[in-house]
Amino acid sequence: MTKKILILPGDGIGQEVTSSMQKVLEYLIDEQDLNLEITERKVGGSSYEEFGKPLTEETLDIAKSSDAILFGAVGGPQWDDLGWDVRPEQALLGLRKALGLFANLRPAFLFNELASASPLKNHIIENLDILIVRELTGGVYFGEPRGIVENKNPKYGFNTMIYNEDEIRRIATVAFEAAMNRNKKLCSVEKANVLEVSKFWRGIVSEMGAEYPEVELTHQLADNTAMQLVLNPNQYDVIVSGNLFGDILSDIAATLSGSIGMLPSASLNSSAQGMYEPCHGSAPDIAGQGIANPLAMISSLAMAFEHSLKRVDLARRIESAIKTFISSGLRTKDIATGNDFIRTDEVAPTLINILKDEHE
Ligand code: IPM
Ligand code: MN
Repeated sequence: MTKKILILPGDGIGQEVTSSMQKVLEYLIDEQDLNLEITERKVGGSSYEEFGKPLTEETLDIAKSSDAILFGAVGGPQWDDLGWDVRPEQALLGLRKALGLFANLRPAFLFNELASASPLKNHIIENLDILIVRELTGGVYFGEPRGIVENKNPKYGFNTMIYNEDEIRRIATVAFEAAMNRNKKLCSVEKANVLEVSKFWRGIVSEMGAEYPEVELTHQLADNTAMQLVLNPNQYDVIVSGNLFGDILSDIAATLSGSIGMLPSASLNSSAQGMYEPCHGSAPDIAGQGIANPLAMISSLAMAFEHSLKRVDLARRIESAIKTFISSGLRTKDIATGNDFIRTDEVAPTLINILKDEHE
């Protein structure tokens, strides 16, 4: 059966990194004779420029019928003053909600060769390999009621942080299962000392712990986790959290490795449909210079092969090629120590050569 891929390059370096990723994808389609159909559309600021909205109905429809969406990045200073509904970020939130992509997997790992790029001391960061499972379609991001009330004195703004039992169970299930496939440790993070919604979350996750006796389950308060991630990140295997805390903690975790240009992510729904995107943003400051690091986008393709396209073998091959790339000393500008770096458009051809070599 034909699987469908939608590529949404977006803005800034999103366009450069998706085009590198697409070269790797096309190589694998050719080598493996894969039955994949690729469509490409604009999203974010570039879609706004052409259609007056960051996500058109047509693009959303194509996304709904795709198996995997490969998303670059959106945003840029030229769109910072746009109205709320047409900001580039709305495309991201719209896709997440419309496709029910509730499970956001954000791995944070270190290639030990790059330890010096980390803001942390080598002995603290070495061998970092954690997975943050962030709930992505609920919590305070989407909770109702919400709003800004202007006709009261004082004026106010408000949001609602809400999770029902089913939402907690389905994200915790993803996290417990991920822990079972890794080092069998799960830390659930909330603010149960202050928030009712968190107290409720902790109760449900604790109860579920009984179904996973092999998993060592702990609970932590989000502020403590922020601190522990910096002091001793290797205490974690899998972290599960709600939308807002997960957003913040995953930025901390991504920064630990010192090379946010290396980290992929996946957002999945219950039918394994997924959106895959690098953790870095659109980086307008370096856009168009040909120096962006496409490895996070290419790792995101690996995650798409694993979770939505059901070719774990190809996921492992891409990951292995990236490891070889790094251990052979090749560096893009963001992770280079001196002035010796390779440009964005040299990365895919090099990786394809490694893929060929390692396949023999
Ligand atoms: C992320 C981003 C988004 C979020 C923004 C751009 C809406 O920070 O994917 O982490 O807050 O979820
Ligand atoms: Mn974020």
